[in-house]
Amino acid sequence: VSTARTSPSDLCITVDASAETGGAYPVWIGAGLTARLPERLRELGEIHRWAIITDETVGALHTRRIASELAQSGFAVELFEFAQGEARKSRETWAQLTDAMAERGIGRDSAVIALGGGVVGDLAGFVAATYMRGLPCVQVPTTLLAMIDSSVGGKTGVDIPAGKNLVGVFRQPQLVLIDPLLLHSLPEAVFRAGLAEAVKHGLVADADYLSAIERETAALLRREPVPLAELIRGSIEIKAAIVAADTTEAGPRASLNFGHTIAHAIETVSDLAIPHGYAVSMGMVAESRIGERLGVTEAGTAERVRVTLQKMALPTTLPDSIPATAVALATRADKKARASRVRYTLLEQPGKVARGMDGTWTFEADPDLVQRVLEESHGHSTLSLDFTDV
Ligand SMILES: NC(=O)c1ccc[n+]([C@@H]2O[C@H](COP(=O)([O-])OP(=O)(O)OC[C@H]3O[C@@H](n4cnc5c(N)ncnc54)[C@H](O)[C@@H]3O)[C@@H](O)[C@H]2O)c1
Ligand SMILES: [Zn+2]
Repeated sequence: VSTARTSPSDLCITVDASAETGGAYPVWIGAGLTARLPERLRELGEIHRWAIITDETVGALHTRRIASELAQSGFAVELFEFAQGEARKSRETWAQLTDAMAERGIGRDSAVIALGGGVVGDLAGFVAATYMRGLPCVQVPTTLLAMIDSSVGGKTGVDIPAGKNLVGVFRQPQLVLIDPLLLHSLPEAVFRAGLAEAVKHGLVADADYLSAIERETAALLRREPVPLAELIRGSIEIKAAIVAADTTEAGPRASLNFGHTIAHAIETVSDLAIPHGYAVSMGMVAESRIGERLGVTEAGTAERVRVTLQKMALPTTLPDSIPATAVALATRADKKARASRVRYTLLEQPGKVARGMDGTWTFEADPDLVQRVLEESHGHSTLSLDFTDV
């Protein structure tokens, strides 16, 4: 990973992804960068039209203004909005968007700009990857989660009733532009949900980064610009290094799935009512406990994970409305399942993922053990999940 500072405030991190998924691309980070979007877009070469994809909430807050600024700078833009929410990350929305793009004459000389959270990024990335066999894609993330995680790495796709992200492709964006000023309008619960993925980056790859987040929790929750900028830079560097080492998740990239086998099952069982970051928070505690029971994860890790997440007011136990049995059953749809045995990415200790004796990066856990761990976590929740304001 190479990080360069070109102006006192702007950073550029290059992601060296494999050529087969789209090759290397820059991630720009800087407060106020959206104002310089025109410059960055011109660097991408001859593109005649821009399909900007966003959800209605982000549309009203940011995208319509950014689109009209681009139009004033001479860009031919078409705006495509869909209703916000995880339930819209679907094949149906993909069909509506691609139909609308065809209707408005978006052709092979065009590119897509994904302007929104992880839902917009995954969906618009998938539209860009598939429409007319693939258009270039620019990611402009607007949630903390999208800034530190989903906009980088090229995983695109949609949810289907059987599970999360089960239809999609790996395809890298051409450019990622991160403007932390866009976070000012983010609801509190959505902001916190993003912190869960930062904790994940620390847990799987960097103990120092994890300690820094733990130290700075209060300042981060106040969204102080300096610690927030450090958080974004740290997470992108970790993610970029992992993606460069393994673009299509055959090996070490599996570490980014820590907490996610359980998280995806919780999201599915809740009918996508529980936000992704909240589910990841619960999933990381449960999977740390599973790791400890299997003797893979250092004792005491699960408690540290729980305390760290609780300080961020993130949920660490299953809400009573979500039955442990249903979650255990839903883990079977996980993409890491082999011959229908569910496999987990586990920690060795905070800052390091465990590697199995067989050289793989995932471990099989007995379904009964998984269910027991989930059941134990019931009834201890003192937190309100308050995801209704997400
Ligand atoms: N591709 C990947 O590698 C990857 C990694 C992590 C998560 N994900 C996916 O990301 C999704 C979750 O992303 P998310 O948490 O960003 O959800 P989201 O996109 O649904 O955004 C959450 C809410 O915040 C609103 N919002 C977005 N930006 C805003 C802003 N600046 N101001 C005010 N409101 C704003 C949205 O309208 C939405 O209501 C999940 O589908 C998850 O599977 C993908
Ligand atoms: Zn995630």
